[in-house]
Amino acid sequence: MKNKSTFAPMRKIRVFAPATVANMGCGFDIMGMTLDAVGDVLSVEIGEGDDLKIINKSKQSLPDDIEQNVITPAVRAFVAAYGVPMDITVTVEHKIAPGSGIGSSAASSSAAVYALNELLDHPFTDERLVEFAMEGEKLISGGTPHADNVGPSILGGVVLLRGYDPLDVVRLPVPGRFCCAVAHPDIMVSTREAREVLPKEIPLRLAVKQWGNVAGLVAGLAEGDVALIGRSMKDVVVEPYRKHFIPGFDELRNKVLEVGALAMNISGAGPSVFALCDNMTLADKVGEVMKAHFLQYNIDSRIYVSKISNRGARTLADYNFEG
Ligand code: HSE
Repeated sequence: MKNKSTFAPMRKIRVFAPATVANMGCGFDIMGMTLDAVGDVLSVEIGEGDDLKIINKSKQSLPDDIEQNVITPAVRAFVAAYGVPMDITVTVEHKIAPGSGIGSSAASSSAAVYALNELLDHPFTDERLVEFAMEGEKLISGGTPHADNVGPSILGGVVLLRGYDPLDVVRLPVPGRFCCAVAHPDIMVSTREAREVLPKEIPLRLAVKQWGNVAGLVAGLAEGDVALIGRSMKDVVVEPYRKHFIPGFDELRNKVLEVGALAMNISGAGPSVFALCDNMTLADKVGEVMKAHFLQYNIDSRIYVSKISNRGARTLADYNFEG
C-alpha cells in the first residue's frame, strides 16, 4: 500500500461501475466479462469521523438495513485495510435491477471501493479492490466470496480468476468483434437460491468436459478465434441445475443458435441469459428473439445489446473536485 494521504483535496466523487456477465458458460466462479454502458452510478463522499451512510436515490429498492447492503462489507474491508477511520456517505444514483444476473450487487460494491481508492489517491491496486468488493458477493451468495463479477466490473474486459487462495486475477484479451445480447426476464432468482441448488461434488467425466471447455475458451480469447470461443462456452456442471428457473431455456437456445448466435448460456446466477455474437446486427436480432420468447410465457424482459468493453469502473465528470 502507498503512503496514506490525509483527507484533501478531493472529498466527493461520482463513479460508474459496469454490469458484467459471470461464468461465461463453463467458467463457474472463475470467469466474467464486462458490458458497455449498463451499470451503477454512485457518488461517494468522505470526511472526518467513523460513520457509514448509504442513501438510495435510484429507482430500485435496496435494503433499509445497511448491514444487508453489499456496499457495507466491501467498504468496511477497504477501511480496515486502509487503517484510518472516516465518515463515508454513499449515494446510489442509478442501479441495475437487483437479482438480474448481470452483476447488480457487484457493480455497487465495485463502484464503492473504486471511488474510495480514487478519493484517497490510490492506496490500493485494482487487485486489492477486487478482494474488498468480493466481501459484498459473500454477503449475497450465502458465504462464498467470488470475483467473477467484481473482477470485470473493476478491471474491465474479460477477467479470469485463476485462483482464490491467494487471489490471482488475470485479464484476458477481448476480440474486437466480440459482442452479446443479454435478456433479463422479469423473474426473480436470488444468487443464494441459485447456488443452493448446486451439487457439492461432480463426476470426473463432467469435470473433464468442463475443463476442456475452459481451456478452449481461454485459447479462443488469446487467439481471437470467435468460433472456438463459441463452441467452448458450454456448461455441463451448473446449467443443468439452474436452467429450470428460466422458462423454455433449451428451446430459447435452439432459437438463438438458429439465427446465428455462437453460444447461449445463463448469465451469472440467472435469470438473465446471454448469447455470444460476432456482430452487433446479429446481436440486435438475437435480442428480439429473446424478447419474443419470454413474451410467449407472458414474461416481459429487458434486452441489453453490448460489445464486450475493455473499460471497467471509472470516474464520471461531476464532483471531481470540491476543495
Ligand atoms: N459465479 C456466480 C454464480 C455469479 O454463478 O453463482 C453470481 O454471483
